[in-house]
Amino acid sequence: MQTKLLRPSEDPTAIEQAGELLRAGEVVGIPTETVYGLAADARNPEAVARIFEAKGRPQDNPLIVHIAHLDTVHDIAADFPPAAQALAKAYWPGPLTIILPKQDSIPMVTSGGLNTVGIRFPSHPLAQAIIRAAGVPLAAPSANLSGRPSTTTAQHVMEDLNGKIAAVVDGGACTVGVESTVVSLCGARPRLLRPGGISLEQLRAVLGEVDVDRALRERIDDTEKVSAPGMKYRHYAPKAPVTVVFGSPKASADYIASRLGDKTGVLCFDDCAARFRGQAVVETFGPSADAAEQAREVFDALRRFDTTDCTEIFAQCPPSDGIGLAVSNRIKKAAGFHVIDLTEGEK
Ligand code: TXA
Ligand code: MG
Repeated sequence: MQTKLLRPSEDPTAIEQAGELLRAGEVVGIPTETVYGLAADARNPEAVARIFEAKGRPQDNPLIVHIAHLDTVHDIAADFPPAAQALAKAYWPGPLTIILPKQDSIPMVTSGGLNTVGIRFPSHPLAQAIIRAAGVPLAAPSANLSGRPSTTTAQHVMEDLNGKIAAVVDGGACTVGVESTVVSLCGARPRLLRPGGISLEQLRAVLGEVDVDRALRERIDDTEKVSAPGMKYRHYAPKAPVTVVFGSPKASADYIASRLGDKTGVLCFDDCAARFRGQAVVETFGPSADAAEQAREVFDALRRFDTTDCTEIFAQCPPSDGIGLAVSNRIKKAAGFHVIDLTEGEK
């Protein structure tokens, strides 16, 4: 299959072409404010099956359904409780996915066999325009091959999926850079399943208490039952194994500097890079004091290691407040939760 690169900035028919392909049951890579999505008609089981096939994604890992109008929630969720309405009012359109009980209109292949469904109203103008042009809700996981870092440019999507999908819409680089926050409202209390563009503090400001799923803190065995099935798979990983060194920028840089070998890679803050240059394969992901910038750069930096010959990677990691929780979660997942915690003695 020839994958078309559609450029709305140059071609006024690009959005309509994407909409037509989606209506016809094809898979299209689309920009969103978080990461690129691999979209298909959420109500068409054959179209959704093509997403799983193109990504190589396990069938039990549910997809998020994307909408471009609040009223559409009622076609997808069986219930839209006050807590969900309050979240939607505060953070939609935006980088937040709400898990709710599912309507029958959403086939089981979309929800990974669950009776619940994740819904997101993205803020990216092109994402909204494409959903409207398609005229159907769009199921879309991140547009990467399963297990690889998510994609934040149309070029990343082509790297992973060229020849496997009908088209990619180029909307430039994503402005958030990590995926949406996933919160479940299906249990007794709200539960954070994946940290993302909306912080835990922002969720608590609207919902009060929010539980944090343990999959955020530790590695989940492949055989275990988990609330967010996606959390159990090895994710975001470059080919070389990653070790996270958690601590202040200086403490983690000191630790990593003492362990450099011939083919060591270092994922580090901009302001620590000078310590390693010339001695290691260095990829930076933003200033230590700017977690929002780290979020925009982290997946691109992880991807760059695969073009180098490094055989091990040490990674610095921001503190876990604000969007730092999402950044540190992605880096820890890339490391399979192999973390050296330099702050342990301080606790
Ligand atoms: O920002 C995002 O959310 C991007 C863009 C494209 O919107 N999408 C995305 O999708 O990251 P994906 O499939 O890569 O990640 C969705 C996560 C997975 O961990 C999945 O297991 C979880 O959300 N999820 C989806 N539906 C769920 C459900 N009904 N119950 C529990 N977890 C669910
Ligand atoms: Mg993903």
